[in-house]
Amino acid sequence: MPISLTLSSLKFLLLIILISISQTFGQEDPLYRREARFHPVVARSAMVATENKYATQAGLQILKEGGNAVDAAVTIGFTLAVAYPRAGNLGGGGFMLIYLADSHQVLSIDYREKAPVDASRDMFLDEEGKADKEKSRHSILSAGIPGTVAGLTLALEKYGTISLKRALQPAIELASRGFPVDLELSKSLTQVKGRMESSQASMDIFYKKGGETYSEGETLIQKDLAWSLKQIADNGPGSFYNGAIAKKIDSFMKQNGGLITSHDLKSYKAVTRKPVQGEYRGYKIYSMPPPSSGGVHVIQMLNILEQFPLSSFGHNTAKTIHILAEAMKYAYADRSKHLGDPDFSPIPVSELTSKKYAKFIKDKIDTEKITPSRDISPGNLNLQEGNNTTHFSVMDRYGNAVSNTYTLNFSYGSKITVPGTGILLNNEMDDFSAKPGSPNAYGLVGGKLNAIAPEKRMLSSMSPTIVMKDGRPFLITGSPGGGRIITTVLQIIINVIDFDMNISEATNAVRVHHQWLPDELKAEKGLNEDTVNILREMGYRVVIGNTIGVAESIMQKEKYLYGASDPRRPGGLTAGY
Ligand code: DON
Repeated sequence: MPISLTLSSLKFLLLIILISISQTFGQEDPLYRREARFHPVVARSAMVATENKYATQAGLQILKEGGNAVDAAVTIGFTLAVAYPRAGNLGGGGFMLIYLADSHQVLSIDYREKAPVDASRDMFLDEEGKADKEKSRHSILSAGIPGTVAGLTLALEKYGTISLKRALQPAIELASRGFPVDLELSKSLTQVKGRMESSQASMDIFYKKGGETYSEGETLIQKDLAWSLKQIADNGPGSFYNGAIAKKIDSFMKQNGGLITSHDLKSYKAVTRKPVQGEYRGYKIYSMPPPSSGGVHVIQMLNILEQFPLSSFGHNTAKTIHILAEAMKYAYADRSKHLGDPDFSPIPVSELTSKKYAKFIKDKIDTEKITPSRDISPGNLNLQEGNNTTHFSVMDRYGNAVSNTYTLNFSYGSKITVPGTGILLNNEMDDFSAKPGSPNAYGLVGGKLNAIAPEKRMLSSMSPTIVMKDGRPFLITGSPGGGRIITTVLQIIINVIDFDMNISEATNAVRVHHQWLPDELKAEKGLNEDTVNILREMGYRVVIGNTIGVAESIMQKEKYLYGASDPRRPGGLTAGY
């Protein structure tokens, strides 16, 4: 009797110990969490999140060797140009946001494309004065002066520690030796073949002889691109803007009625700009200033949302989505009128991102009733006057962070490769407003401030963002998606801050999008059917359709880094150490 008693109490004691050990691990060590939630990737020192495994591996290797976040970001930028050619590029442009731990400074590099000197306001209008989409999206005229090489090399020179040669090494190796095509690349090349056929140089590189697409597992070698990358490694960015590559671009343009000249290339400069800054429920938000509209409107919408108790309304409930949609409509209406290249006209950044203006908009929002887009117009401010992009996030062991979004605009840009260079040209000129009120490829309308003019930068939605908490980076995020970039970034931020999601949940959660015009609420498949019905009863035209955005994010909490690659594009990889 006493023995069996002792045995059963021993068993009980053992059980208690086991439960408490498992709970301790479950709660305290994020590497061993057992909750039924989507799990982010976890690391202790440094992390990289990109849409491509080769890029992630190349960036991570730099970090392991002691390089900083800028070194890794530049390496990733060049590697994506080879391994992820639908969006990674040398012939496009973008924006980089950098947090420097030593000086506690957030800064941004604007390497957005510019209109060539010979561009003019009405260059995309046909004889009847209508916007000619073929011309602005699929012709040689659709290309702006590329900024990527200037932007990446400027970042490395000013804030990096490794040589340009080292940063380019993985890209050169991948381009010259080739790499096995994955399903995603093979499929996307099949999809765009019809358009690619207009460029023999593109066909020669991305398809087999006879025009067949590479299947999964077959090797894609890009010899011409390897040559261009080597030029840059050996002779610096000058080779692109004023050397052997520039020569090839200039003569190709001349022979084919393009506008970009050697003068345009020579005078292109990437510029450092002060990020836009805001505050949301005690977090500091830094994002991209004009010529991107992204940062301004992320902050404007957060300012509006801050005045509603979203967490008590619940994630993706009809009430929350209604408030989101109302905030989105006001922001996109303002975008259509007030945003453009700050080097050409003053942009009312501080007015648009002020708490006062957000209060003015909040007072117009009824939590129960929808405001049709026709009743919303761009704010009367007191003034002096999206299919392919890619985002990546990096954090290093020194506490620095980089948030970078860059693009060719569409998948493979204009689909036109400059012969002998392997460089695909962007079709970013379509982001200008070809005519007031005439929508671009993402349905976004614009006016005077975004009209085409020589050497002007076209308005963007790219929103690389860094959220700070207690003086250090809390969230690094961004996304592709044209006009949906801004609302994707917004929802990642509120999912984490208002709805207490981990970064994987915040990324996976169903997204919605409203951009004022057209007056419809887009939602991803998976939004609760009852919620959809309530929204429809309220008067929303809910359109359930394609996925919205592809976020690549890193979050820092206490001692750990947590990251997530968006499952909406399955080739991504987040990794750390
Ligand atoms: O700069 C912009 O806003 C657009 N050119 C971005 C295009 C884009 O995100 C397409 N990707 N899905």
